[in-house]
Amino acid sequence: MNVHAPALAQTQQFDEPTTVFASDVVGDLSQFPKRLSPKYFYDAAGSELFEQITVLPEYYPTRTELGILRSRGDEIAALIPKGAALVEFGAGATTKVRLLLERCEFGAYVPVDISGEFLNAQAAGLRRDFPDLATYPVAADFTAPFALPDAIEGMPKVGFFPGSTLGNFEPHEARAFLRSAREILGEGAQMIIGVDLEKNERVLYDAYNDAAGVTARFNLNVLVRINRELGANFDVSSFMHRSVYNRERHRIEMHLIAKKAQSVRILGRNFSFRPGESIHTESSYKYSLERFTTLAHNSGWSVRESWTDEDRMFSVHALTAAE
Ligand code: AVJ
Repeated sequence: MNVHAPALAQTQQFDEPTTVFASDVVGDLSQFPKRLSPKYFYDAAGSELFEQITVLPEYYPTRTELGILRSRGDEIAALIPKGAALVEFGAGATTKVRLLLERCEFGAYVPVDISGEFLNAQAAGLRRDFPDLATYPVAADFTAPFALPDAIEGMPKVGFFPGSTLGNFEPHEARAFLRSAREILGEGAQMIIGVDLEKNERVLYDAYNDAAGVTARFNLNVLVRINRELGANFDVSSFMHRSVYNRERHRIEMHLIAKKAQSVRILGRNFSFRPGESIHTESSYKYSLERFTTLAHNSGWSVRESWTDEDRMFSVHALTAAE
C-alpha cells in the first residue's frame, strides 16, 4: 500500500456526477435565455479539443501564461516556503504545474478536479517524473467547499489556479470562489493565479473564433456529450458556434445558436428552440489589473506581486491570505 491509495479510493467514491449533470442540463435549458455550464465542456473529447485550442495561433492565453511562468518562475519559487503543499484547482495538462514543481521543494501536491479519470491520468504522469512527490488527488467540484487530505495538515498551503479559469465565473462567483479558497487553504496561505486581461477586441474575438474551427467544435461538443450521456437527440448540425465580446461586462460570451426551429428530447422532456435562439455556454471574463486587485482584496486576499508579459495580454499574481 502506498501513500496514494487513500486518495484514489476517495476518487472512485465521489465520481458519480451523472445525476448532477442531468439536473443541471434540464434546469439550465429550462431557463430563458437558455444556458449550459462551461464546466461540462470537459469530457474526454472536450478536454482533447481544449488542448488543441491551447496551441491555436489565435489563442494567446496558454502560451502567454506559460511564458510568464517560465520567465518569472524563479521569482515565484522564491515566495514559496520549502515543504509547502501545492493545491491545484482543476486538473488538466500538467505543463504549468511542472514549472512550479521543478523549481520548488513541495511537501505534497494536491490536484483537485471533478473528474477522477483526469486526476488519475495526471497523477500517473507526474509520478514518473517526480517519484518522491507525495500526491493526494481529491475528486471534488472545487466551486463548492471540499476538505483537504489529512496528510497535508500542518504544511504551509499554496493554491494554484492557472489558465484564467477564474474568468469562467460571474463576478459574484469569482468572489465566492476566492473566499472559499481562502477558507480551505487557511491562515498564512498563498495563491498563484493566472488571469486574462482586457485588450484589443479584435484579438479577443479571434481567440474565440479561430480560423480552423476548433473552438466551434469544442462548443458544439457539449451537445454531443448531452446526447451520449443523457440519451438526448440534439441534431448537432442544426446548431452553430458564436462568440462575441460583451464590452460592458468585460467578457467573451460563447453561444450555440439554433439554425432553425426545432425541438429536442432530453430525459423525457421537450425543449423547443426558435430559429436563432441561443444557448449561452460560456462567459470568459477579462480583467484589468486594477479590477482584479479589487476583487482579490474583497475576497480575503492581498496581492503580493503581479507579473504580466510585455504586451500585457495576461497576468499571473501571487496572493497572500489577508489576516
Ligand atoms: C479554460 C476557461 C480559460 O475562457 O479562454 C477557450 C476556455 N473557451 N476557448 C477560456 C475556452 C473557448 C478558456 N478557459
